[in-house]
Amino acid sequence: MKSGSDPGLRGDYTKAAPDYAVEQDWSAYTAEEHALFRRLYERQSKLVSRYACPEWIDAIGRLDAGRGIPKFDDINRSLSKATGWRIAAVPGLIPDAPFFTHLANRRFPVTVWLRKPEEVDYIAEPDVFHDFFGHVPLLYDRMYADHLCEYGKGGLKAMRLDAIAMLARLYWYTIEFGLMRTGSGVRAYGAGLLSSGGELAHCVDDPRPRRRPFELERILRTEYRIDRYQDCYFVIDSFAQLMRETAPDFTPIYARLRHLSALDPSAP
Ligand code: PHE
Ligand code: CO
Repeated sequence: MKSGSDPGLRGDYTKAAPDYAVEQDWSAYTAEEHALFRRLYERQSKLVSRYACPEWIDAIGRLDAGRGIPKFDDINRSLSKATGWRIAAVPGLIPDAPFFTHLANRRFPVTVWLRKPEEVDYIAEPDVFHDFFGHVPLLYDRMYADHLCEYGKGGLKAMRLDAIAMLARLYWYTIEFGLMRTGSGVRAYGAGLLSSGGELAHCVDDPRPRRRPFELERILRTEYRIDRYQDCYFVIDSFAQLMRETAPDFTPIYARLRHLSALDPSAP
């Protein structure tokens, strides 16, 4: 959710359609790239049984994506049957309007390129590993899939209401860095956590970060840092709760919160 015309962005935008879709030229990936994807996949796979939410674990098994960078067309056959979602291949980060439009139409933008070997532990922009491993499995979950579609429609509405900064915080603290309370303890469902070699254990085990119960208005007001582990996570009880609490019309909420100061995520 950042400008695709940003000169600092990686990725080839020259062949993108007006909605930023590109072909995933699967045959162009090198053997080294497939091996690096496998390496990332295997490292994360050791962590997920302890740290990932059950919905994500249920779905990853169906994907058979541990052998290398997956073919999006293959995934789309099973994904569209499961929840009506598809992957849309994109060159990298894309602007808000096409991003929300894809989500509202049940298309999840997945970056086609893979990070470099020296970036296994940290990458500033989402790559195919983050987008695929972190985001795609949950699209098989009916409730999550419906929620994300509603989020996309909500994004187009927030653009009209000049409330993107607030709505982006909700995405950050749920879709990217969300935690969920389960019968076996706190688990991650946020893609930024699921695809992270370090933060996935940190977000559950480390005593330092704050773990607040999901609270819509607080989230809409809480700033976030993109360059380090989060100081604050928000914990949902279920995707049903996330869906329910985000269902009301945000128009009056935006109008009210607009006049309040933003909150520091590290504040007690
Ligand atoms: N209910 C929100 C609105 O009226 C839309 C939304 C749904 C936002 C789901 C986020 C998640 O703007
Ligand atoms: Co992401």
